[in-house]
Parts: sequence; structure tokens; C-alpha cells
Amino acid sequence: MSFRIQPAPVARLNRCQLFGPGSRPAIFEKMAASEADVINLDLEDSVAPDDKTEARKNVVQAIGDIDWGEKTLSVRINGLDTPYWYRDVLALVEEAPDRLDLIMIPKVGTAGDLYAVDALVTAAEAAAGRGRRLGFEVIIESAAGIAHVEEIAAGSPRLQAMSLGAADFAASMGMATTGIGGTQEGYYMRREGQNYWADPWHWAQANIVAACRTHGVLPVDGPFGDFSDEEGFRAQARRSATLGMVGKWAIHPKQVALSNEVFTPTAEAIGEAREILEAMEAAKARGEGATVYKGRLVDIASIKQAEVIVRQAEMIGK
Ligand code: COA
Ligand code: MG
Repeated sequence: MSFRIQPAPVARLNRCQLFGPGSRPAIFEKMAASEADVINLDLEDSVAPDDKTEARKNVVQAIGDIDWGEKTLSVRINGLDTPYWYRDVLALVEEAPDRLDLIMIPKVGTAGDLYAVDALVTAAEAAAGRGRRLGFEVIIESAAGIAHVEEIAAGSPRLQAMSLGAADFAASMGMATTGIGGTQEGYYMRREGQNYWADPWHWAQANIVAACRTHGVLPVDGPFGDFSDEEGFRAQARRSATLGMVGKWAIHPKQVALSNEVFTPTAEAIGEAREILEAMEAAKARGEGATVYKGRLVDIASIKQAEVIVRQAEMIGK
């Protein structure tokens, strides 16, 4: 128990983050026209080393040139273990217009990584006289990242969102898999002659959700690599949503609608949440803290659960 109130995350939609390589400007307009809530222009691992400088130029140009509408616009910079990242930051702060909302920092391992980028961004913003402060989002995709996840979630007042990056995470952890998300061949329980598939990402996801919720950060599920497997994507996304994550990445435009579908509460769920709130209002008027709704217990905790869904519905404008 704590007397501290759990801080609310930033009030914006983050149901789907669509990625595209900064070295492929031909798709930027298509990204802007998509239904994704967040756009991530990538300077990191989808860009080959020889294309880094060109990609940086494309991205800076596109931030101003393209109409990104109401979307949250984010650029993934290179990791702090590369020679590229500080030039990425300086180009984004000094040369790109104010339209940019977030910098995404990959492979974060300690809160010190956020501190370092924050120090550079803060100085560069002051020197450039930028009116609008950039926000941060981070990717947890290493053993160090998950081991220090809570201090990372508390690592900078700029931090808005945190994603799980399954591929790099698996590599760093030494996991016996080359899959990006989804269940894995070797990960099952066996009972009475049957195999039961389990979820090898569950622990990392639940840890990220707890760290994020403690510090008012949005928890997000990262990529699902097999973009031909719609049901696999849906299953992964529904598990993430059930655990408290607010959205998922799309690494192909096909995945945007799937992600929006899973992370948008259904009309039925919203209706039920509103009815629970009404049932509890009526209970309160009778001086009761608990009542029965559709044959099951609802109490004061149910109000908070229902409010999560109603708040999300209001943000979506449903
Ligand atoms: N955003 C918007 N549009 C995209 C897109 C993206 N990320 N990727 C492809 N498209 C477009 C294509 O231009 C094509 O458009 P068209 O119908 O007008 O010709 C259409 O969607 C279908 O594309 P498709 O041929 O199926 O894919 P591809 O072979 O061109 O590209 C990938 C496949 C996976 C290489 C590409 O989607 C991609 O680069 N994804 C992002 C990778 C990334 O950023 N990774 C870093 C995070 S893990
Ligand atoms: Mg990665």
C-alpha cells in the first residue's frame, strides 16, 4: 500500500505505432495516410550503416514537408553504443521543425542512458531556442533493460512510452528463438499426452507494465515479425492488451488495422463498463460499497476497472 497516487500517463492514443525506414522516403506519405496513432521514422536497425546520413536528412526534411495530421510523430535514433546517436539528436533538435513530438531511444540499459540523451537534448533545445520540449519513448530490448526497467521508467520527465523489443531482447537474453513475438516451439507444458503452448514474453511484458504504471508511462508491445500471420499477431496483441499494454507496433501496413482493432475497446465492452459505473452509482446511493451486476460481484475496485475502458473510449471519441 502506498499513500502516493499512481500518476496518469500522457492522455493520447497509442494503439498502433507504424514503423518505416528513414532510408525509404517513398513510403512516408503512405505512413502519414495510415490509421496509426503514432508514426516512427527509423534511423536505427532498418537503415544500413552506409545510409545513415542520407536517412537522417530524409527524416529531418519529412518532419516539415509531410502533413502528419493529428498523429504523434516520433523518430527512432541510433543506440548509445553507436557513433551515430548524438548526430541524430542534434539534427532533430537543430534542423527539424517543432512538429516532431518524440525521440525514441533504443536498447536502453540504465536510467543513465536517458539522463545522457536528456542532457544533450536539453542543451541543444536551449541553444536552438526551441519552444516545445521533445518527449521520449524507449525500447526495453536487453537483459540490462529489463533488469533496470523500473529505474528506466522513472529516468526522465520527458519519458512518455516504453516498448518491448522482442528480437533484440531475445538475442540479449540468449533465448533459443529467432521468432519476433508469438509463442515458440520449445515453450510448452505437457499434461496427459497434450502440449500446451505458453507465452515466453509474458514475464518481460508484465514487468514493463508494472514499471510503466508505477511511473505514469505508457506500456507498449513491440513488433510481431511474421506479417503474413494475422491470427498470430492478434493473439499476441490480445495477450498484451489483457496484461495492460496500450498498443503495439506495426512493421507492415497490414498490421495497423489489426492493432487498432485489438486496442480499441468494443462497443459491448464500453457499454458494459458504463453499466457497471451506473450500477455502482445506484449502490452508493443505497449506502452500499458492493453490488451484483449480471450475476457477479462488482465493488469499488470495479469502478476503477470500468473507468480504464471508459477513459480510453472517450479519448477515441466513441
Ligand atoms: N509503412 C507504410 N507503407 C508501407 C510500409 C510501411 N512501413 N511498408 C510497405 N509499405 C507499402 C509499400 O510501399 C506498398 O505500397 P503500394 O501498394 O503503394 O506499392 C504496400 O505497402 C505493400 O508493401 P509490401 O510489398 O507488402 O512490402 P515491402 O516489401 O515493400 O516492404 C518491409 C516490407 C517489411 C520491408 C517494410 O514494410 C518495412 O520496411 N517495414 C518497416 C521495417 C522497420 O521499420 N523496422 C524497424 C522496426 S522493427
Ligand atoms: Mg531492436
